[in-house]
Amino acid sequence: MTATAQKILIGSDHGGYILKESLKKFLSARGHEVIDVGTDSESSVDYPGYAMEVAKRVAADWTLMGILICGTGQGMCMVANRVPGVRAAVCNDLFTARMARAHNNANVLTMGGRVVGPGLAEEIVSVFLNTPFEGGRHQRRIDLFEQG
Ligand code: RB5
Repeated sequence: MTATAQKILIGSDHGGYILKESLKKFLSARGHEVIDVGTDSESSVDYPGYAMEVAKRVAADWTLMGILICGTGQGMCMVANRVPGVRAAVCNDLFTARMARAHNNANVLTMGGRVVGPGLAEEIVSVFLNTPFEGGRHQRRIDLFEQG
């Protein structure tokens, strides 16, 4: 599956570092522009800073997609969703990845580096990047929580 080339911000903590590195190669090889905000090793770090950095930049530029990886995907998702305009979704399976785009117009994908292997993660990312938002009633529902 190939997606139109996109600009992707990617970040992880130590729990997602190995998966981040392999996904960077996967995405770059498919023509995507990948901007890595760290972390740079498997040394223990705190995930909120990486999540905030990606989330704020995605919120400021609707053309960007974000990918955040920690041990489970949960902490990254919780932090990213604190930023208005960000719709982050934990997608550790293909169905959730498809629905997060089609129904929730997610703009940040989070995954667990201790949950999914590199093969499944590549499929999840591909589905996420290739699935369009369906709009319609789903936009109305998003408006209901984004506009307060
Ligand atoms: C780090 O041990 C772990 O808590 C973190 O990667 C993440 O899973 C948090 O949600």
